[in-house]
Amino acid sequence: MRRNVPPTGKMAPEKSVRLCAALLLSLSTAFAHVEDLDDTFKDNRADDIWLVKFYAPWCGYCRKLEPVWHEIGAELKSSGSSINVGKMDATAYSSVASEFGVRGYPTIKLLKGDLAYNYKGPRTKDDIIEFANRVAGPVVRSLPSRQMFEHILDRHGVVFVYIGGESTLKEKYIEVASELIVYTYFFSALEDAVPPTVTLQELPSVSVFKDGTYFLYDAYQHGELSSWVNKERFRGYLDIDAFTLYELAETGKLVAIAVVDEKVPTEEGARIKMLMQRVATEYRDQFSRDFQFGHMDGNDYINGLIMSEVPVPSIIVLNTSNDQYFLPLEQVESHEQMVEFINSVLDGTAQAQGGDSIFQRVKRVFYDARSTVMSVFRSSPLLGCFLFGLPLGIISLMCYGICTAEADDDSEDLDLLRREEEEEEEEEQRQRAEQQEEEEQRLRVEEEEQRQRVEGGEDDKEEEDEEEEEEEEEKSAMDKKVD
Ligand SMILES: *[C@@H]1O[C@H](CO)[C@@H](O)[C@H](O)[C@H]1NC(C)=O
Repeated sequence: MRRNVPPTGKMAPEKSVRLCAALLLSLSTAFAHVEDLDDTFKDNRADDIWLVKFYAPWCGYCRKLEPVWHEIGAELKSSGSSINVGKMDATAYSSVASEFGVRGYPTIKLLKGDLAYNYKGPRTKDDIIEFANRVAGPVVRSLPSRQMFEHILDRHGVVFVYIGGESTLKEKYIEVASELIVYTYFFSALEDAVPPTVTLQELPSVSVFKDGTYFLYDAYQHGELSSWVNKERFRGYLDIDAFTLYELAETGKLVAIAVVDEKVPTEEGARIKMLMQRVATEYRDQFSRDFQFGHMDGNDYINGLIMSEVPVPSIIVLNTSNDQYFLPLEQVESHEQMVEFINSVLDGTAQAQGGDSIFQRVKRVFYDARSTVMSVFRSSPLLGCFLFGLPLGIISLMCYGICTAEADDDSEDLDLLRREEEEEEEEEQRQRAEQQEEEEQRLRVEEEEQRQRVEGGEDDKEEEDEEEEEEEEEKSAMDKKVD
């Protein structure tokens, strides 16, 4: 499942911080239990065993791990362990880090010979030291005596033991162990070291001791040894947290969970836990191949996984392969009803919900965004107001800007309309004025014409007068001539 991934920062090499950090840290390394590693580490580590934390200076989870890391260094040193503890700024020495396959921060690795073992469990001192001691030791530890055998069974919840002499099964067992030692212990014993309570039909054999009993590996029935070990490395009934669920996903099993509130235990909660435990042990043969059983404290994590709210207490089955989940249709009152529900999931009659369809993935994006916003507000309302208020403010300002801009456009349109109207009016006026002018012109022309007509009459007379004058002049001239 996507959300099961342990929290890590993202890889983003940043070199500016590195000088400063390196300088500061190199001053304090002289007496420290944790060595600061640089790019010479790869060539100098030789055959030593190293527990290394790859970190980034800006990563919050790394800073949280820092004090734990120093305690681990101090404890391993004081116990005389052969394990060296170091840390490397993976942003400063990114090429070395990527050679070790570092892809997130923090990454915890145990380096032993050519092999690098990843730690993926809870980041507590005891868990990490247990991991380091387990992986640093022999891949298969031998149990030389019956006492030793019994002591180991008392000490560990889940123990794999190879019983017998040299064989191809033993070679296979060592091969599987060298890979899966990151998860659990592997032992070997000769037949005479086996406690009398254990009866083995054939030798050599591989068994897992857990839940107060033991189970034999059968190649014909169980297939590959490694996949059998992977499925059997958990107790039948678990206290499940986010890290366990992440590890369980690798087994491909369905996970049946009693969701209860451990802080405020209720009778109903205790009852369904007991039912779950009972089915896990009594119906192991029937269900253990496909199911892992357990309980989980609180519904926060489950709610996040299924993007819905499960009641507390309640029962849920998760398919970690495809993000589907199953809920009983009615209250589970008896272990028979629980068995019935588990069977209905197994035979496909139970209604599956959720899943990893496109729709679910889109829903996931919105769900995650919403939970992020809500978790920020819950943990720090002020920061929330600032983080989301500021962009919201900017967005609303932008919206306001856009809206008013549109209003401007409208008024511009109106203006345009008005202007057009005005223009039309003006045009009309102008036309009217023109008409008037024309009229006036016409009138003026008529007047003129009239006047001209009147004047024309006078002119004629004048002309006549002139002619007469001319005639008279001519006459007079002729008269003069005649004279
Ligand atoms: C769980 O998911 C896997 C992968 O999609 C699928 O093959 C399997 O049938 C599912 N199991 C159930 C019980 O739905």
